[in-house]
Amino acid sequence: MTDHDVRVLDDSQYRSAHTLFRGTLHHTPAPDDQWEFARETYHEGRAFGAFVDGEMVGTLQSFPSALAVPGGAVVRHAAVSRVGVRADWTRRGVLSALQRTQLRAMREDGDVAATLRASETAIYGRYGYGVATRYRSLRIDRRKAAPRTRPVGRVRLVEGEAGERIARELFDALSPGRAGTISRWPGWWGLSIRRVAAEENLKIAVRSGESGDDGFVVFRVVPGEHGFTGEKPTTLIVMDLWARDAEAWADLWLFVLGVDLVDEVTSYGRPVDEPVAWLLGDRRACRVEGETDETWLRLLDLPAALSARTYRPAEPVVLGVRDVYLPENAGAYRITGDGVTRVDDTPDLILDVDVLGSAYLGDVTFTALADSRRLEVVDRAALARADALFAVSRPPWCGTYF
Ligand SMILES: CC(C)(COP(=O)(O)OP(=O)(O)OC[C@H]1O[C@@H](n2cnc3c(N)ncnc32)[C@H](O)[C@@H]1OP(=O)(O)O)[C@@H](O)C(=O)NCCC(=O)NCCS
Repeated sequence: MTDHDVRVLDDSQYRSAHTLFRGTLHHTPAPDDQWEFARETYHEGRAFGAFVDGEMVGTLQSFPSALAVPGGAVVRHAAVSRVGVRADWTRRGVLSALQRTQLRAMREDGDVAATLRASETAIYGRYGYGVATRYRSLRIDRRKAAPRTRPVGRVRLVEGEAGERIARELFDALSPGRAGTISRWPGWWGLSIRRVAAEENLKIAVRSGESGDDGFVVFRVVPGEHGFTGEKPTTLIVMDLWARDAEAWADLWLFVLGVDLVDEVTSYGRPVDEPVAWLLGDRRACRVEGETDETWLRLLDLPAALSARTYRPAEPVVLGVRDVYLPENAGAYRITGDGVTRVDDTPDLILDVDVLGSAYLGDVTFTALADSRRLEVVDRAALARADALFAVSRPPWCGTYF
């Protein structure tokens, strides 16, 4: 398959692309009332189809967004999603053709980085995506939790569109903020929250302190069974929780832990450093059920990406970067505490762009990557220097599922 078979889709083709993608996940086509929400998340020039004899056999797209990087800067970012190739056309290079076109288009359009969530870990490394953030899933036995502290502000339930409006405003003020967090695009709230709100009985609670609203939690309660038919716990699922500061954060967790007739509180997609267990009288009531890869990051415009983040004071290091799909990124970059310069020097460390993507937000050290044979070490002493330069005080986290 050649690049010529991959085309930008127009408005009239979005629904068939959506149906094709859903089919690759073994889902039926979206009914009209669901499609209305999905339609809003197609953006002109950002959806592609791969065609054979005029028939679409593969698709992918991206949402326009922004990404926070270490040091607080925000770069243009494409959130890549709805990647699928029809089952009768897989393993013939269709995805590779789509990726080649999309990577080039995103870079030329000015996106500095792209991120995605991977259905399978074997797929995206070859295209330059590396795991850059992780998240945790928690399960709290509410009856044993015995919180050690009481709320200091007020948390109120806000019904319907008013709740979504407040949550949205708060989210937009808070993210992108921490490294790894992103902005949500038009259509995200409709598709992820409003579409399922009635069906899944979603609730939004807003926290306010002395200076007004400063945090929110979106949650739902799945009723359990107690009695003759069996035992199944009633579970409160925290779906989205954002707070301006630690005071608001603690109050929101205390609120969900205080909802009556709930046996357990669960949450997935939470930051790996979130100290929920420390709020509890019995910290064993909070179990970390899993930790998994969250953001797969692709640095599209490497000079821009490397210049956007800050570095800690340390001796310089020269990184030699390989990039097969966007060869203009390939070369040597001298990183110092003051910034980045492209150089002709011999690199101290040589790595593929996906490996640099993993290290970029600071979630993994160069030493760990070298120990696991993910990069070539020319000068062993450079590992400690690179670790020091790229170090961050909080692990990066995204917190937005797409
Ligand atoms: C994943 C998917 C898009 C791959 O499409 P494809 O057209 O088969 O991919 P390609 O033929 O271009 O494969 C390129 C390379 O990736 C490898 N590859 C592709 N999908 C893979 C998978 N699921 N597991 C392992 N390797 C995979 C191919 O073997 C090939 O390797 P090679 O270059 O060494 O020969 C397709 O299988 C699919 O639609 N799967 C179901 C939906 C899905 O998982 N989408 C991803 C959502 S994040």
